[in-house]
Amino acid sequence: MEKNGCKIKDYRVKTFIWDRESLSLIDQRRLPFEEKYVVCRTYKEVADCIRDMVVRGAPAIGVVAAYGVALAAVGFKGKDKDEFLSVIDESIEALSATRPTAVNLFWALDRMKKVVEKNKSLEVQEIRARLIQEAEDIEKQDLEVNLRIGNNGEKLFESGRKFRILTHCNAGALATSGYGTALGVVRALAQNEKLELVIVDETRPYLQGARLTSWELYQEGIPFFVITDNMAGYFMARGEVDAVIVGADRIALNGDAANKIGTLGLSIMAKYYGLPFYIASPLSSIDTNLESGKEIPIENRSEEEVKKIMGVQIIPSYMAVRNPAFDVTPASNITAIITEEGVIFPPFKEKISAITEGRSHEK
Ligand code: MRU
Repeated sequence: MEKNGCKIKDYRVKTFIWDRESLSLIDQRRLPFEEKYVVCRTYKEVADCIRDMVVRGAPAIGVVAAYGVALAAVGFKGKDKDEFLSVIDESIEALSATRPTAVNLFWALDRMKKVVEKNKSLEVQEIRARLIQEAEDIEKQDLEVNLRIGNNGEKLFESGRKFRILTHCNAGALATSGYGTALGVVRALAQNEKLELVIVDETRPYLQGARLTSWELYQEGIPFFVITDNMAGYFMARGEVDAVIVGADRIALNGDAANKIGTLGLSIMAKYYGLPFYIASPLSSIDTNLESGKEIPIENRSEEEVKKIMGVQIIPSYMAVRNPAFDVTPASNITAIITEEGVIFPPFKEKISAITEGRSHEK
C-alpha cells in the first residue's frame, strides 16, 4: 500500500527483545540495509553493544543497561550471596563506563543498585527475581512515558492545520522502548492528522537521521525527506519548517540540554527564524545534580567516524579531525521541554526543580 510516496507496512520497530535468558538487540549499525539482531547473554556483551553503538539513544541505553545487570544475575549459578553481590557490582561498574553523556544510563543503573540495597537480606534467587522485575519495569515504564510525551507534545500544535517538523538524530522507537520521544510527538501529530511531513537531518557523522529516523518513518508511511545537516538553514529561510523537535541526552536544572552534535546550531537557526524549538524528553533525562549545561560530560568518539562514511575513507588517516558526539543547547534557545508530566515552559529552573522534587517525594 502506498501513501504520500511511502510504503505502509504493518510494522512495529522492536529495538530489543528480552526473554529472561538473553537480550537481542537490533543492530543499529546495519540499518536500514540489514535487519539483524545481536544476541547478548552476558553483561559484558551488553556493555560492548552499548559502547559500539549496536544500541544507542539515551532511554534505550538505560533500559538495555538494566537488562545487562539482570543478565549478570541470571548468569550467576552459585549460591554464595557475597559472590553474587560482587558480580552485580561489577556489572553495574562495567555498564556505567560505556558512554558518558546520556544520564538515563546512570539513572537506570541507579535503580538496579537500589533494588540490591533494599533486598540485601534476601536469598540470591529472590534478589535475582527482583532485579529481573526492575529491568522489565524500566522497559515498560519507558514505553508508557513515551506515549505520554507524544500526547503532551501533540497538544502544543493547533488543530485544523498540518505542520512541517524538522528533527535531528534519532529520538524514535529505536532510541527507546518504542514509540520515541521527539518521534513520539511526530507519531502523535500524524495520528491526529496534524502532520504534513518530517524533515530529517542526516546527522553526521553517525547518520542516525539518514539511516534510522528515515527507516522508522518509512515503515509507518509517515511522509518525510532527508537533508544533509547544512541544509536546515535553507529550508528554515524559505519558510518550509514550522517547528524543530529533538530529544535530549541530559538536561541540567536550568534547562540547558545536551543532545546529538548539531542540535545547538539548529537551535540558533530556529531562534533566528522565530521557529519554536522543542526538546521532547523523559524526566529521567534530567540530571538533578547539575546546575547548568556546562557541567554535562561530553563524549568524544573515535576519529574514524569522521574520517569514514559507512566504511569508505573520505579524509586521509594522517589528517586531524575531532569528534564530539554531543553539544549543549542553552535554555534560552529552548521554547519548551515536553515531558511525560507535561510541557515545561521557561523560566525552567524553578519548574524543573518543582517537577523533579515532586517525583522524588512520590517514591
Ligand atoms: O549517540 P546517540 O545516537 O546515542 O545519540 C542519541 C541522541 O542524541 C538522541 O537524540 C537522544 O539520545 C534522545 S533519544 C530519545
